[in-house]
Amino acid sequence: MSESPHFIFTSLVLALFPSFLAFLFVSILAKRSSRSRRRLNLPPGRMGWPFLGETIGYLRPYSATTVGDFMSQHISRYGKIYKSNLFGGPAIVSADAGLNKFILQNEGRLFECSYPRSIGGILGKWSMLVLVGDMHRDMRIISLNFLSHGRLRTRLLKEVERNTLLILKSWKENSTFSAQDEAKKFTFDLMAKHIMSLDPGEPETEQLKKEYVTFMKGVVSAPINLPGTAYRKALKSRAAILRFIERKMEERKSKMTTNTNEVGKGEEEEEEDRDLLGWTVNHSSLSTEQILDLILSLLFAGHETSSVALSLAIYFLQACPAAVAQLKEEHLGIAREKKKKERGAGEELLNWDDYKKMEFTQCVISETLRLGNVVRFLHRKALRDIHYNGYDIPCGWKVLPVIAAVHLDPLLFDHPHSFNPWRWLPLPLPLQGETNSPRTPAPMPSNYFMPFGGGPRLCAGSELAKLELAVFIHHLVLNFTWELAESDEAFAYPFVDFPKGLPIRVRRHSRT
Ligand code: HEM
Repeated sequence: MSESPHFIFTSLVLALFPSFLAFLFVSILAKRSSRSRRRLNLPPGRMGWPFLGETIGYLRPYSATTVGDFMSQHISRYGKIYKSNLFGGPAIVSADAGLNKFILQNEGRLFECSYPRSIGGILGKWSMLVLVGDMHRDMRIISLNFLSHGRLRTRLLKEVERNTLLILKSWKENSTFSAQDEAKKFTFDLMAKHIMSLDPGEPETEQLKKEYVTFMKGVVSAPINLPGTAYRKALKSRAAILRFIERKMEERKSKMTTNTNEVGKGEEEEEEDRDLLGWTVNHSSLSTEQILDLILSLLFAGHETSSVALSLAIYFLQACPAAVAQLKEEHLGIAREKKKKERGAGEELLNWDDYKKMEFTQCVISETLRLGNVVRFLHRKALRDIHYNGYDIPCGWKVLPVIAAVHLDPLLFDHPHSFNPWRWLPLPLPLQGETNSPRTPAPMPSNYFMPFGGGPRLCAGSELAKLELAVFIHHLVLNFTWELAESDEAFAYPFVDFPKGLPIRVRRHSRT
Protein backbone atom coordinates (compact mmCIF):
# COMPACT_ATOMS: atom_id res chain seq x y z
CA MET A 1 0.00 0.00 0.00
CA SER A 2 1.42 3.37 -0.98
CA GLU A 3 1.20 6.31 1.50
CA SER A 4 0.31 9.90 0.61
CA PRO A 5 3.09 12.53 0.68
CA HIS A 6 1.09 14.33 3.35
CA PHE A 7 1.06 11.28 5.57
CA ILE A 8 4.82 10.76 5.09
CA PHE A 9 5.51 14.40 5.95
CA THR A 10 3.32 14.25 9.07
CA SER A 11 4.99 11.02 10.24
CA LEU A 12 8.42 12.55 9.63
CA VAL A 13 7.51 15.67 11.63
CA LEU A 14 6.15 13.55 14.45
CA ALA A 15 9.22 11.28 14.41
CA LEU A 16 11.62 14.21 14.43
CA PHE A 17 9.67 16.28 16.93
CA PRO A 18 11.43 14.91 20.07
CA SER A 19 14.84 15.46 18.45
CA PHE A 20 13.78 18.98 17.50
CA LEU A 21 12.68 19.69 21.07
CA ALA A 22 15.93 18.29 22.41
CA PHE A 23 17.92 20.44 19.98
CA LEU A 24 15.97 23.54 21.02
CA PHE A 25 16.51 22.78 24.69
CA VAL A 26 20.25 22.22 24.28
CA SER A 27 20.66 25.42 22.21
CA ILE A 28 18.81 27.47 24.84
CA LEU A 29 20.99 25.98 27.58
CA ALA A 30 24.18 26.54 25.58
CA LYS A 31 23.18 30.14 24.87
CA ARG A 32 22.35 30.73 28.49
CA SER A 33 25.56 29.22 29.74
CA SER A 34 27.65 31.15 27.20
CA ARG A 35 25.81 34.34 28.20
CA SER A 36 26.47 33.64 31.88
CA ARG A 37 30.12 32.72 31.06
CA ARG A 38 30.40 36.07 29.31
CA ARG A 39 29.14 37.69 32.48
CA LEU A 40 31.73 35.88 34.60
CA ASN A 41 34.23 38.19 36.15
CA LEU A 42 37.37 36.11 35.76
CA PRO A 43 40.57 37.44 37.27
CA PRO A 44 42.87 39.17 34.75
CA GLY A 45 45.63 37.16 33.11
CA ARG A 46 46.52 35.47 29.85
CA MET A 47 46.04 31.93 28.63
CA GLY A 48 49.29 31.65 26.60
CA TRP A 49 49.81 29.02 23.91
CA PRO A 50 47.13 26.47 23.00
CA PHE A 51 47.34 23.43 25.31
CA LEU A 52 50.79 24.30 26.74
CA GLY A 53 49.46 27.61 28.02
CA GLU A 54 52.08 29.25 30.24
CA THR A 55 53.31 26.03 31.89
CA ILE A 56 56.88 26.27 30.59
CA GLY A 57 57.32 29.80 31.99
CA TYR A 58 55.66 28.84 35.28
CA LEU A 59 58.07 25.92 35.78
CA ARG A 60 61.28 27.74 34.75
CA PRO A 61 63.82 27.31 37.62
CA TYR A 62 64.53 30.28 39.90
CA SER A 63 66.22 31.10 43.19
CA ALA A 64 64.27 29.38 45.98
CA THR A 65 64.31 32.46 48.22
CA THR A 66 62.34 34.44 45.62
CA VAL A 67 59.03 33.91 43.86
CA GLY A 68 60.77 33.84 40.47
CA ASP A 69 60.41 36.14 37.46
CA PHE A 70 57.21 34.55 36.12
CA MET A 71 55.35 34.99 39.37
CA SER A 72 56.61 38.49 40.17
CA GLN A 73 55.87 39.74 36.63
CA HIS A 74 52.37 38.25 36.70
CA ILE A 75 51.63 39.68 40.14
CA SER A 76 52.78 43.15 39.14
CA ARG A 77 50.78 43.00 35.89
CA TYR A 78 47.58 41.30 37.08
CA GLY A 79 47.57 41.34 40.88
CA LYS A 80 47.79 38.51 43.41
CA ILE A 81 44.97 36.52 41.81
CA TYR A 82 45.27 35.83 38.09
CA LYS A 83 44.10 33.40 35.46
CA SER A 84 46.35 31.35 33.25
CA ASN A 85 46.56 28.03 31.44
CA LEU A 86 48.77 25.61 33.38
CA PHE A 87 49.36 21.85 33.48
CA GLY A 88 47.01 21.30 30.54
CA GLY A 89 44.00 23.38 31.55
CA PRO A 90 42.63 26.78 32.61
CA ALA A 91 43.81 27.76 36.07
CA ILE A 92 43.45 30.40 38.74
CA VAL A 93 46.76 31.19 40.45
CA SER A 94 46.60 32.70 43.93
CA ALA A 95 49.37 34.55 45.73
CA ASP A 96 46.71 35.97 48.04
CA ALA A 97 46.90 34.93 51.72
CA GLY A 98 43.13 35.13 52.24
CA LEU A 99 42.22 33.13 49.13
CA ASN A 100 44.87 30.49 49.89
CA LYS A 101 43.41 29.95 53.35
CA PHE A 102 39.87 29.87 51.89
CA ILE A 103 40.90 27.23 49.32
CA LEU A 104 42.60 24.95 51.83
CA GLN A 105 39.87 25.23 54.44
CA ASN A 106 37.15 24.39 51.91
CA GLU A 107 38.74 21.14 50.77
CA GLY A 108 36.02 18.65 49.79
CA ARG A 109 33.29 21.33 49.76
CA LEU A 110 34.31 23.97 47.23
CA PHE A 111 37.74 22.72 46.18
CA GLU A 112 39.42 19.36 45.91
CA CYS A 113 42.98 18.15 45.79
CA SER A 114 43.87 17.53 42.14
CA TYR A 115 47.47 16.63 41.29
CA PRO A 116 48.50 16.03 37.67
CA ARG A 117 47.77 12.48 36.50
CA SER A 118 51.50 11.71 36.16
CA ILE A 119 51.90 12.07 39.97
CA GLY A 120 49.26 9.37 40.51
CA GLY A 121 51.01 7.27 37.86
CA ILE A 122 54.24 7.24 39.77
CA LEU A 123 53.13 7.46 43.42
CA GLY A 124 50.22 5.08 42.86
CA LYS A 125 46.48 5.55 42.64
CA TRP A 126 46.11 4.89 46.38
CA SER A 127 48.75 7.46 47.32
CA MET A 128 47.52 9.91 49.96
CA LEU A 129 48.60 12.83 47.85
CA VAL A 130 46.07 12.02 45.11
CA LEU A 131 43.24 10.39 47.07
CA VAL A 132 40.09 12.35 47.91
CA GLY A 133 36.94 11.65 49.92
CA ASP A 134 36.43 8.74 52.33
CA MET A 135 39.48 6.80 51.19
CA HIS A 136 41.69 9.81 51.85
CA ARG A 137 40.12 10.20 55.29
CA ASP A 138 40.83 6.54 56.17
CA MET A 139 44.45 6.74 55.05
CA ARG A 140 44.88 10.04 56.88
CA ILE A 141 43.62 8.53 60.13
CA ILE A 142 46.24 5.76 59.85
CA SER A 143 49.01 8.27 59.13
CA LEU A 144 48.00 10.62 61.96
CA ASN A 145 47.83 7.71 64.36
CA PHE A 146 51.28 6.70 63.36
CA LEU A 147 52.72 10.21 63.64
CA SER A 148 50.82 11.06 66.83
CA HIS A 149 52.11 13.23 69.66
CA GLY A 150 52.39 10.13 71.87
CA ARG A 151 54.59 8.29 69.39
CA LEU A 152 56.73 11.38 68.89
CA ARG A 153 57.42 11.54 72.62
CA THR A 154 57.89 7.86 73.30
CA ARG A 155 59.57 6.51 70.18
CA LEU A 156 60.36 9.04 67.51
CA LEU A 157 62.39 11.45 69.63
CA LYS A 158 64.80 8.62 70.48
CA GLU A 159 64.98 7.39 66.89
CA VAL A 160 65.57 10.90 65.56
CA GLU A 161 68.40 11.47 68.02
CA ARG A 162 69.99 8.06 67.39
CA ASN A 163 70.01 8.78 63.64
CA THR A 164 71.38 12.30 64.15
CA LEU A 165 74.28 11.00 66.23
CA LEU A 166 75.00 8.26 63.70
CA ILE A 167 75.26 10.82 60.88
CA LEU A 168 77.31 13.36 62.85
CA LYS A 169 79.72 10.67 64.12
CA SER A 170 80.64 9.89 60.53
CA TRP A 171 81.71 13.49 59.82
CA LYS A 172 85.52 13.65 59.85
CA GLU A 173 87.41 16.66 61.17
CA ASN A 174 88.04 19.29 58.46
CA SER A 175 86.33 17.19 55.80
CA THR A 176 84.24 18.41 52.87
CA PHE A 177 81.05 16.70 51.70
CA SER A 178 77.56 17.28 50.34
CA ALA A 179 75.30 18.45 53.19
CA GLN A 180 72.29 17.68 51.01
CA ASP A 181 73.35 14.01 50.65
CA GLU A 182 73.83 13.76 54.41
CA ALA A 183 70.40 15.30 55.02
CA LYS A 184 68.86 12.79 52.61
CA LYS A 185 70.61 9.89 54.31
CA PHE A 186 69.37 11.12 57.69
CA THR A 187 65.71 11.44 56.73
CA PHE A 188 65.64 8.28 54.58
CA ASP A 189 67.14 6.10 57.33
CA LEU A 190 64.70 7.57 59.81
CA MET A 191 61.64 6.90 57.65
CA ALA A 192 62.86 3.40 56.67
CA LYS A 193 63.22 2.57 60.37
CA HIS A 194 59.90 4.08 61.35
CA ILE A 195 57.95 2.57 58.49
CA MET A 196 59.53 -0.86 58.11
CA SER A 197 62.06 -1.24 60.97
CA LEU A 198 64.97 -1.26 58.52
CA ASP A 199 68.35 -0.57 60.11
CA PRO A 200 70.71 2.01 58.59
CA GLY A 201 73.66 0.55 56.72
CA GLU A 202 72.13 -2.94 56.32
CA PRO A 203 72.39 -4.31 52.73
CA GLU A 204 68.59 -4.37 52.28
CA THR A 205 68.26 -0.74 53.47
CA GLU A 206 71.02 0.34 51.07
CA GLN A 207 69.39 -1.59 48.20
CA LEU A 208 66.05 0.10 48.88
CA LYS A 209 67.79 3.50 49.04
CA LYS A 210 69.37 2.88 45.63
CA GLU A 211 66.01 2.08 44.04
CA TYR A 212 64.47 5.06 45.82
CA VAL A 213 67.04 7.50 44.34
CA THR A 214 66.13 6.35 40.79
CA PHE A 215 62.45 6.54 41.70
CA MET A 216 62.81 10.13 42.93
CA LYS A 217 64.60 11.24 39.75
CA GLY A 218 61.50 10.12 37.85
CA VAL A 219 59.04 11.78 40.21
CA VAL A 220 60.57 15.16 39.43
CA SER A 221 61.19 14.54 35.71
CA ALA A 222 58.89 15.09 32.71
CA PRO A 223 56.33 12.25 32.66
CA ILE A 224 57.47 10.72 29.35
CA ASN A 225 57.16 6.96 29.41
CA LEU A 226 59.70 6.08 26.69
CA PRO A 227 62.72 3.75 26.86
CA GLY A 228 65.68 5.44 28.56
CA THR A 229 63.73 8.31 30.17
CA ALA A 230 64.03 9.05 33.89
CA TYR A 231 60.26 8.51 34.18
CA ARG A 232 60.43 4.99 32.65
CA LYS A 233 63.36 4.09 34.96
CA ALA A 234 61.41 5.43 37.93
CA LEU A 235 58.39 3.26 37.06
CA LYS A 236 60.74 0.24 37.10
CA SER A 237 62.18 1.30 40.46
CA ARG A 238 58.68 1.83 41.81
CA ALA A 239 57.87 -1.78 40.90
CA ALA A 240 61.08 -2.97 42.62
CA ILE A 241 60.29 -0.94 45.76
CA LEU A 242 56.74 -2.31 45.88
CA ARG A 243 58.08 -5.88 45.53
CA PHE A 244 60.43 -5.17 48.45
CA ILE A 245 57.62 -3.84 50.65
CA GLU A 246 55.37 -6.74 49.71
CA ARG A 247 58.08 -9.23 50.69
CA LYS A 248 58.33 -7.52 54.07
CA MET A 249 54.54 -7.66 54.38
CA GLU A 250 54.49 -11.40 53.74
CA GLU A 251 57.19 -11.88 56.40
CA ARG A 252 55.03 -9.97 58.87
CA LYS A 253 51.94 -11.96 58.06
CA SER A 254 53.69 -15.28 58.49
CA LYS A 255 55.21 -14.11 61.80
CA MET A 256 51.73 -13.11 62.95
CA THR A 257 50.34 -16.54 62.10
CA THR A 258 53.17 -18.22 64.01
CA ASN A 259 52.53 -15.95 66.97
CA THR A 260 48.81 -16.66 67.10
CA ASN A 261 49.58 -20.38 67.01
CA GLU A 262 51.88 -20.05 70.01
CA VAL A 263 50.81 -18.91 73.44
CA GLY A 264 52.61 -16.12 75.37
CA LYS A 265 53.90 -14.17 72.38
CA GLY A 266 52.10 -10.94 73.31
CA GLU A 267 55.29 -8.92 73.49
CA GLU A 268 56.37 -9.93 70.01
CA GLU A 269 52.98 -8.97 68.67
CA GLU A 270 53.43 -5.56 70.23
CA GLU A 271 56.83 -5.41 68.59
CA GLU A 272 55.10 -5.97 65.27
CA ASP A 273 53.00 -2.83 65.87
CA ARG A 274 56.12 -0.74 66.21
CA ASP A 275 56.37 0.21 62.58
CA LEU A 276 53.78 1.43 60.12
CA LEU A 277 53.90 -1.75 58.05
CA GLY A 278 53.20 -3.98 61.05
CA TRP A 279 50.47 -1.69 62.30
CA THR A 280 48.60 -1.54 58.97
CA VAL A 281 48.90 -5.30 58.47
CA ASN A 282 47.59 -5.91 62.00
CA HIS A 283 44.89 -3.28 62.37
CA SER A 284 43.66 -1.94 59.03
CA SER A 285 41.34 -3.42 56.45
CA LEU A 286 43.35 -2.02 53.54
CA SER A 287 44.13 -4.26 50.56
CA THR A 288 47.74 -5.19 49.76
CA GLU A 289 47.78 -2.70 46.87
CA GLN A 290 46.51 0.08 49.15
CA ILE A 291 49.07 -0.67 51.87
CA LEU A 292 51.91 -0.63 49.31
CA ASP A 293 50.90 2.79 47.96
CA LEU A 294 50.40 4.17 51.46
CA ILE A 295 53.87 3.05 52.57
CA LEU A 296 55.50 4.41 49.41
CA SER A 297 53.72 7.75 49.66
CA LEU A 298 54.69 8.17 53.31
CA LEU A 299 58.30 7.32 52.51
CA PHE A 300 58.14 10.00 49.81
CA ALA A 301 56.29 12.64 51.86
CA GLY A 302 58.43 12.14 54.95
CA HIS A 303 61.83 11.88 53.33
CA GLU A 304 62.03 14.44 50.53
CA THR A 305 60.55 17.44 52.31
CA SER A 306 62.44 17.09 55.59
CA SER A 307 65.79 16.57 53.89
CA VAL A 308 65.31 19.74 51.84
CA ALA A 309 64.32 21.66 54.99
CA LEU A 310 67.42 20.44 56.84
CA SER A 311 69.69 21.40 53.91
CA LEU A 312 68.09 24.85 53.84
CA ALA A 313 68.66 25.31 57.59
CA ILE A 314 72.35 24.39 57.20
CA TYR A 315 72.59 26.81 54.26
CA PHE A 316 70.84 29.79 55.92
CA LEU A 317 72.67 29.34 59.22
CA GLN A 318 76.18 29.31 57.70
CA ALA A 319 75.41 32.82 56.43
CA CYS A 320 74.01 34.05 59.76
CA PRO A 321 76.62 33.78 62.57
CA ALA A 322 74.40 35.72 65.01
CA ALA A 323 71.71 33.04 64.76
CA VAL A 324 74.29 30.26 65.21
CA ALA A 325 75.64 32.04 68.32
CA GLN A 326 72.15 32.32 69.82
CA LEU A 327 71.39 28.70 68.98
CA LYS A 328 74.62 27.61 70.65
CA GLU A 329 73.69 29.52 73.77
CA GLU A 330 70.25 27.88 73.85
CA HIS A 331 71.56 24.36 73.34
CA LEU A 332 74.52 24.73 75.71
CA GLY A 333 72.01 25.86 78.33
CA ILE A 334 69.90 22.76 77.75
CA ALA A 335 72.95 20.46 77.81
CA ARG A 336 74.34 22.04 81.02
CA GLU A 337 71.03 21.89 82.87
CA LYS A 338 70.62 18.31 81.82
CA LYS A 339 74.05 17.41 83.13
CA LYS A 340 73.32 19.08 86.47
CA LYS A 341 69.93 17.44 86.92
CA GLU A 342 70.81 14.01 85.77
CA ARG A 343 74.19 13.64 87.41
CA GLY A 344 74.86 9.95 87.71
CA ALA A 345 71.48 8.96 86.28
CA GLY A 346 73.10 8.09 82.95
CA GLU A 347 70.25 9.76 81.03
CA GLU A 348 72.14 11.64 78.36
CA LEU A 349 69.66 11.53 75.54
CA LEU A 350 67.23 14.39 75.01
CA ASN A 351 63.80 14.10 76.55
CA TRP A 352 60.55 15.90 75.71
CA ASP A 353 61.16 18.65 78.29
CA ASP A 354 64.53 19.41 76.67
CA TYR A 355 62.83 19.62 73.29
CA LYS A 356 60.22 22.04 74.62
CA LYS A 357 63.01 24.38 75.76
CA MET A 358 64.28 24.88 72.18
CA GLU A 359 62.42 28.14 71.66
CA PHE A 360 64.86 30.05 69.48
CA THR A 361 65.44 26.85 67.49
CA GLN A 362 61.72 26.83 66.64
CA CYS A 363 62.12 30.39 65.34
CA VAL A 364 65.02 29.23 63.14
CA ILE A 365 62.87 26.38 61.84
CA SER A 366 59.92 28.67 61.03
CA GLU A 367 62.19 31.14 59.29
CA THR A 368 63.86 28.36 57.28
CA LEU A 369 60.46 27.12 56.10
CA ARG A 370 59.21 30.64 55.36
CA LEU A 371 62.22 31.73 53.32
CA GLY A 372 63.10 28.37 51.74
CA ASN A 373 59.56 27.22 50.90
CA VAL A 374 60.07 23.47 50.58
CA VAL A 375 56.58 23.09 49.07
CA ARG A 376 55.89 26.10 46.89
CA PHE A 377 52.34 25.60 45.64
CA LEU A 378 49.55 23.06 45.86
CA HIS A 379 47.23 21.57 43.23
CA ARG A 380 43.48 21.97 43.64
CA LYS A 381 40.41 22.23 41.41
CA ALA A 382 37.11 24.07 41.88
CA LEU A 383 34.20 21.70 42.55
CA ARG A 384 31.59 24.32 41.63
CA ASP A 385 31.36 27.92 40.41
CA ILE A 386 32.84 30.03 43.21
CA HIS A 387 32.68 33.74 43.80
CA TYR A 388 35.58 35.22 45.79
CA ASN A 389 36.21 38.93 46.41
CA GLY A 390 34.50 39.97 43.19
CA TYR A 391 36.12 37.28 41.04
CA ASP A 392 34.54 34.15 39.61
CA ILE A 393 36.34 30.83 39.73
CA PRO A 394 34.55 28.49 37.29
CA CYS A 395 33.73 24.92 38.26
CA GLY A 396 36.36 22.44 37.04
CA TRP A 397 39.18 24.99 36.73
CA LYS A 398 42.52 24.23 38.34
CA VAL A 399 43.30 26.36 41.36
CA LEU A 400 46.90 26.79 42.49
CA PRO A 401 47.42 28.35 45.94
CA VAL A 402 51.05 29.53 45.89
CA ILE A 403 52.05 29.41 49.55
CA ALA A 404 55.60 30.59 48.77
CA ALA A 405 54.31 33.88 47.34
CA VAL A 406 52.53 34.70 50.62
CA HIS A 407 55.65 33.86 52.67
CA LEU A 408 57.70 36.26 50.52
CA ASP A 409 55.12 39.05 50.39
CA PRO A 410 56.69 42.35 51.57
CA LEU A 411 53.29 43.55 52.82
CA LEU A 412 53.10 40.63 55.25
CA PHE A 413 56.74 40.04 56.20
CA ASP A 414 59.28 42.81 56.75
CA HIS A 415 62.28 42.38 54.40
CA PRO A 416 60.92 39.02 53.29
CA HIS A 417 64.12 37.99 51.47
CA SER A 418 66.37 38.12 54.51
CA PHE A 419 66.83 35.30 56.98
CA ASN A 420 65.60 36.74 60.25
CA PRO A 421 64.60 34.09 62.84
CA TRP A 422 64.06 36.84 65.45
CA ARG A 423 60.88 37.89 63.65
CA TRP A 424 59.26 34.78 65.15
CA LEU A 425 60.03 35.63 68.79
CA PRO A 426 56.78 36.40 70.63
CA LEU A 427 56.46 40.07 71.55
CA PRO A 428 56.19 40.82 75.27
CA LEU A 429 52.59 41.35 76.40
CA PRO A 430 51.53 45.00 76.94
CA LEU A 431 51.62 46.31 80.51
CA GLN A 432 48.24 46.89 82.15
CA GLY A 433 46.48 49.94 80.65
CA GLU A 434 49.04 50.23 77.87
CA THR A 435 47.54 50.51 74.38
CA ASN A 436 49.14 51.13 71.02
CA SER A 437 52.65 50.86 72.40
CA PRO A 438 55.53 48.94 70.89
CA ARG A 439 54.70 46.29 73.50
CA THR A 440 51.26 45.70 71.99
CA PRO A 441 51.69 42.49 70.01
CA ALA A 442 51.49 43.02 66.26
CA PRO A 443 49.46 40.49 64.24
CA MET A 444 51.60 37.34 64.30
CA PRO A 445 53.10 36.53 60.91
CA SER A 446 51.91 32.98 61.60
CA ASN A 447 48.43 34.03 60.39
CA TYR A 448 49.77 33.80 56.86
CA PHE A 449 52.30 31.06 57.48
CA MET A 450 51.38 27.77 55.82
CA PRO A 451 54.50 25.74 55.03
CA PHE A 452 52.58 22.56 55.87
CA GLY A 453 49.45 23.47 53.91
CA GLY A 454 46.21 23.69 55.86
CA GLY A 455 42.64 22.49 56.36
CA PRO A 456 41.75 18.80 56.18
CA ARG A 457 44.96 17.98 54.29
CA LEU A 458 47.38 19.72 56.65
CA CYS A 459 50.70 17.86 56.61
CA ALA A 460 50.43 14.76 58.79
CA GLY A 461 54.15 14.84 59.57
CA SER A 462 54.62 18.52 60.49
CA GLU A 463 55.48 17.81 64.14
CA LEU A 464 57.90 15.04 63.18
CA ALA A 465 59.57 17.36 60.66
CA LYS A 466 60.09 20.06 63.32
CA LEU A 467 61.41 17.50 65.78
CA GLU A 468 63.92 16.19 63.24
CA LEU A 469 65.19 19.68 62.49
CA ALA A 470 65.44 20.72 66.15
CA VAL A 471 67.30 17.60 67.31
CA PHE A 472 69.71 17.75 64.37
CA ILE A 473 70.40 21.46 64.98
CA HIS A 474 70.97 20.73 68.70
CA HIS A 475 73.85 18.32 68.04
CA LEU A 476 75.12 20.25 65.03
CA VAL A 477 75.71 23.55 66.85
CA LEU A 478 77.04 21.83 69.97
CA ASN A 479 79.68 19.90 68.05
CA PHE A 480 80.49 21.58 64.75
CA THR A 481 81.19 24.78 62.91
CA TRP A 482 80.63 24.70 59.17
CA GLU A 483 81.06 26.84 56.07
CA LEU A 484 80.31 26.50 52.38
CA ALA A 485 83.20 24.74 50.64
CA GLU A 486 82.00 26.09 47.30
CA SER A 487 79.29 28.61 46.56
CA ASP A 488 75.88 27.02 46.05
CA GLU A 489 72.29 28.23 46.17
CA ALA A 490 68.85 26.67 46.54
CA PHE A 491 66.80 26.62 43.33
CA ALA A 492 63.11 25.92 42.82
CA TYR A 493 62.59 23.49 39.90
CA PRO A 494 59.86 23.86 41.42
CA PHE A 495 61.00 21.16 43.94
CA VAL A 496 63.84 22.76 45.91
CA ASP A 497 67.36 21.51 45.25
CA PHE A 498 70.99 22.63 45.60
CA PRO A 499 72.63 22.18 42.16
CA LYS A 500 76.03 21.35 43.70
CA GLY A 501 74.59 19.36 46.60
CA LEU A 502 75.48 22.06 49.16
CA PRO A 503 79.18 21.25 49.72
CA ILE A 504 80.28 22.17 53.28
CA ARG A 505 83.53 21.94 55.25
CA VAL A 506 83.13 21.03 58.92
CA ARG A 507 85.27 21.44 62.03
CA ARG A 508 84.59 19.87 65.38
CA HIS A 509 84.65 22.08 68.43
CA SER A 510 84.50 21.36 72.12
CA ARG A 511 81.41 22.34 74.14
CA THR A 512 82.32 25.43 76.10
C1 HEM B 1 59.61 20.31 56.38
C2 HEM B 1 59.04 19.19 56.03
C3 HEM B 1 57.67 19.07 55.42
C4 HEM B 1 56.95 19.97 54.69
C5 HEM B 1 57.35 21.39 54.30
C6 HEM B 1 55.70 19.34 54.34
C7 HEM B 1 54.69 19.95 53.62
C8 HEM B 1 53.48 19.35 53.33
C9 HEM B 1 52.39 20.01 52.65
C10 HEM B 1 52.39 21.45 52.15
C11 HEM B 1 51.38 19.13 52.56
C12 HEM B 1 49.98 19.39 51.98
C13 HEM B 1 49.84 18.88 50.56
C14 HEM B 1 48.49 19.28 49.96
O1 HEM B 1 47.65 19.86 50.64
O2 HEM B 1 48.28 19.02 48.78
C15 HEM B 1 51.83 17.89 53.16
C16 HEM B 1 51.06 16.75 53.24
C17 HEM B 1 51.51 15.58 53.84
N1 HEM B 1 52.71 15.38 54.50
FE1 HEM B 1 54.14 16.74 54.76
N2 HEM B 1 55.69 18.07 54.85
C18 HEM B 1 56.86 17.86 55.54
C19 HEM B 1 57.24 16.72 56.23
C20 HEM B 1 56.51 15.58 56.34
C21 HEM B 1 56.90 14.40 57.09
C22 HEM B 1 58.17 14.25 57.91
C23 HEM B 1 55.92 13.48 56.92
C24 HEM B 1 55.90 12.12 57.56
C25 HEM B 1 55.71 11.03 56.98
C26 HEM B 1 54.89 14.08 56.07
C27 HEM B 1 53.73 13.47 55.68
C28 HEM B 1 52.73 14.09 54.97
C29 HEM B 1 51.49 13.41 54.60
C30 HEM B 1 51.10 11.99 54.92
C31 HEM B 1 50.74 14.36 53.89
C32 HEM B 1 49.35 14.16 53.26
C33 HEM B 1 48.31 14.66 54.25
C34 HEM B 1 46.91 14.51 53.70
O3 HEM B 1 46.71 14.49 52.48
O4 HEM B 1 45.99 14.37 54.52
N3 HEM B 1 55.29 15.35 55.75
N4 HEM B 1 53.10 18.06 53.64
